[in-house]
Amino acid sequence: MPMNAINLRRLTPDDIPLLADWMVTVPLWQRYNLRADQAAAQFETALRRGDILQVADLPEAPACGFAWGMIGGAFGRSVYLRLIGVRPDLAGHGVGAALLDNLEQIAAGVSSDLFLLVSDFNSDAQRFYRRQGYEHIGSIPAYVLPDVNELIFWKRLR
Ligand SMILES: CC(C)(COP(=O)(O)OP(=O)(O)OC[C@H]1O[C@@H](n2cnc3c(N)ncnc32)[C@H](O)[C@@H]1OP(=O)(O)O)[C@@H](O)C(=O)NCCC(=O)NCCS
Repeated sequence: MPMNAINLRRLTPDDIPLLADWMVTVPLWQRYNLRADQAAAQFETALRRGDILQVADLPEAPACGFAWGMIGGAFGRSVYLRLIGVRPDLAGHGVGAALLDNLEQIAAGVSSDLFLLVSDFNSDAQRFYRRQGYEHIGSIPAYVLPDVNELIFWKRLR
């Protein structure tokens, strides 16, 4: 996939149903029992609050990826990457990396660091974040699901 085929832009209300529809097909989020109506409500709240919400389009696939950062979402001080995702049939083509680079550039304007949580079993995403310069700095046992530890990843942006 040529990098210039990926268009990055701010999320608009029209994107929300599209995103919510494919999010419920992602195995990771199925394990967290995500429903489309919940996903849509979370995006609407985030949009109203002024969170960082970026979307990726490919020529034949509008809104095929997104990144959501909460300003001050980590310790009232740093940006917290709440969620990032790419439509499953388009994973592994650089859309996620482009979204994360873009979110980091925006976040660097308001925060010196970025924090995120990743499930202990999600080794693909852990590799993705490590390659993007994130370090595993701690873990929260059974934080969201009783049988899953959430790993804290951190990157200094500036
Ligand atoms: C993790 C994710 C955002 C990466 O975006 P992407 O566009 O697939 O990633 P890129 O093409 O930029 O980078 C490729 C790397 O992403 C990771 N990756 C690829 N497919 C993946 C998948 N289905 N699930 C998780 N990670 C994946 C791998 O580390 C891959 O590196 P590899 O080639 O060494 O295996 C995306 O795959 C995804 O949405 N996964 C499901 C949801 C998720 O795990 N979100 C992150 C935790 S909240």
